[in-house]
Amino acid sequence: MGYRYIGSKSKILDVVLTKISDLCETGDTVVDLMCGTATVSKELRCRGYNVISNDLMTYSYHHAVTNLKFSQEPRFSKASKYINNRLGLSVEKTSYDLMLKAISMAEPVKGYFWTEFSSEGKPKNTDKSRNYYSPENAKKIDGIRRELETLRSEGCLEPYEYSLLNHDLIMCTNDIANIAGTYGHYMAKLSGRAKDELKLYKTDLLLKDDVDKHTVLQGYAEENAKLISADLCYIDPPYMKRQYAANYHILETIARGDEPEAIGVSGLRPWRDQYSNFCTKTKIRDSFRKIFSDMDCSRFLISYSEDGLLSLDDFKELLNPFGDVYIDEFHHKRFKSNNSKLKKDLTEYLILLDKS
Ligand SMILES: C[S@@+](CC[C@H](N)C(=O)[O-])C[C@H]1O[C@@H](n2cnc3c(N)ncnc32)[C@H](O)[C@@H]1O
Repeated sequence: MGYRYIGSKSKILDVVLTKISDLCETGDTVVDLMCGTATVSKELRCRGYNVISNDLMTYSYHHAVTNLKFSQEPRFSKASKYINNRLGLSVEKTSYDLMLKAISMAEPVKGYFWTEFSSEGKPKNTDKSRNYYSPENAKKIDGIRRELETLRSEGCLEPYEYSLLNHDLIMCTNDIANIAGTYGHYMAKLSGRAKDELKLYKTDLLLKDDVDKHTVLQGYAEENAKLISADLCYIDPPYMKRQYAANYHILETIARGDEPEAIGVSGLRPWRDQYSNFCTKTKIRDSFRKIFSDMDCSRFLISYSEDGLLSLDDFKELLNPFGDVYIDEFHHKRFKSNNSKLKKDLTEYLILLDKS
């Protein structure tokens, strides 16, 4: 299963990258300012650009590191004792495959995920259990998380190795989560792949000898803009009111390796520290203006859609004072559940602001 993430550009990567290659030469620096799953970042790297990835969310940081920062498979040498003990190897050996095998054998435990996010658990703050994962899978997640955090705190993982394992855990838990689309709600009955057993699988890493050319940042685009110099900045903001921090709270918890208070029916972590202005019509314009003013970059390419909070006219009014504006339009078939009232065909825009 692909990554279930609202606004992921995996299905229209070609359109976005074709536009970027019309505007930039190989070797130029391109920013993926709200990188989400970091799918666009990976393709940019593939095509020979120097990439700066940024997002507000911690899981996006791990995805971007995974896609940009490996020139060879990590060895996990600092975890050799752990790997060898776990697998009972007589000759000391480490590798990415062996590490995944070792950590997959983590003892399942009735921990935070089982308590807060499975039907067998008794959440701290509410009487009703939450059904995000089967109890077996929740225990497995708890076991793997415990080992990961122990390995990290004992200095047995390089930071990028930790990011990769965290990315792997997110990818496999996303496959077996009992959700219709986001983590805003779980489904009443365990259904479909949520009944399958959680399995960690290896990421097909893009291995190139170029890692020093790429930078991964985490934080508000509005704040990090002033730290960035680039030839082109690609911006793929949220289109609607749905806050990513609230809708992907469980992925953020896995990415941070913490155990926050899980609040209400959905078990949300406290998420206001990752509130996005791009989901609020009264704040979105000022945030865009700050990015255009503060970044050392003359061209900005924005993905947006007809569903978005701002209309095309709103965009023209916002961008015109900064430079020339060009708009490409294309149609895209969106994923739609059977009873959804949303239109099947969606008009998407690529809006170019040229300040030069
Ligand atoms: C439409 S998604 C990007 C999808 C991405 N292009 C992909 O293919 O996966 C929007 C992203 O914007 C991020 N975001 C929202 N507000 C932000 C802000 N102020 N600064 C940085 N990132 C932000 C969200 O966390 C989310 O990952």
